Amino acid sequence: MGQKQNILVVGASGAIGSALVRQLADTDVCIGLHYCHNHEKAELLKKEIASAGCEGVLLPSPLDSWPACVDFAEVVTQKFGTVHALALCGGKLDWVSWPQLNESNWQDILFQHCVAPFTIVQKLVPSMLAAHGGKVVYLSSISPKYGGSVNTLHYAAAKAALETAMYGLSRQLCKDGIRINGVRAGFVDSPLQREGRSDEDISERVAKIPLGRPGKPEEIASAMAYLLTDQASFIQGEIITVAGGD
Ligand SMILES: NC(=O)c1ccc[n+]([C@@H]2O[C@H](COP(=O)([O-])OP(=O)(O)OC[C@H]3O[C@@H](n4cnc5c(N)ncnc54)[C@H](OP(=O)(O)O)[C@@H]3O)[C@@H](O)[C@H]2O)c1
Repeated sequence: MGQKQNILVVGASGAIGSALVRQLADTDVCIGLHYCHNHEKAELLKKEIASAGCEGVLLPSPLDSWPACVDFAEVVTQKFGTVHALALCGGKLDWVSWPQLNESNWQDILFQHCVAPFTIVQKLVPSMLAAHGGKVVYLSSISPKYGGSVNTLHYAAAKAALETAMYGLSRQLCKDGIRINGVRAGFVDSPLQREGRSDEDISERVAKIPLGRPGKPEEIASAMAYLLTDQASFIQGEIITVAGGD
């Protein structure tokens, strides 16, 4: 049997991140389970994958500042040496209607959804280069297509910035064997959406989805998992949309 592959899932305590962890869990991988606040959920997930013979390592970090992201990458490198595959599924939504947006709202959302995921990759790339390859998948959103809603314009802009950084980075690193891609998720009924929408808002949002239902976290996760496999070996700098036709 070959050496174990190390996979890092940022936002493993979230709806989509935990679904991805379950799909990746196997005896020949070790999964770094990042969480910010939800220790209990991360611990339960670790136990769940352990029962399938998969090793999980809890990696808490608030990822709320540049030093926090740099420290996090250092801890990851100390624990794993090389990260072979990296999935970035973290980040929350800050629901603010656009006339009320202030500097701090912009800085926070851009940091969470573009600067932090970019910085984590930047700091882990040297170990991937040393290992002659790696795979990265970012989690974007369908929101850049429409510019978000009245309360999420800044979030849509941050995801658009993430997609552009993803594309640029993929072109920089493809000759080094590092594949970088992203998934644009459509509406998934998760805590992230419930925090800012009433039941009525959710029904209205779902009615706009051509397939007529919300996505399931597993449906987003399976596209991310696919991009981390060698079956996706010729996919580079691509965003796959998983949004029920949205
Ligand atoms: N749900 C959707 O409809 C949808 C659609 C498109 C894209 N997305 C994207 O999918 C990702 C996860 O969404 P979800 O639906 O799975 O939400 P969720 O269940 O609320 O999970 C959010 C995850 O992000 C972590 N987190 C919190 N603050 C963070 C920060 N500052 N930096 C990094 N991670 C942080 C949370 O950790 P703790 O719980 O431990 O605090 C949790 O693991 C987000 O990037 C979101 O933009 C979601």
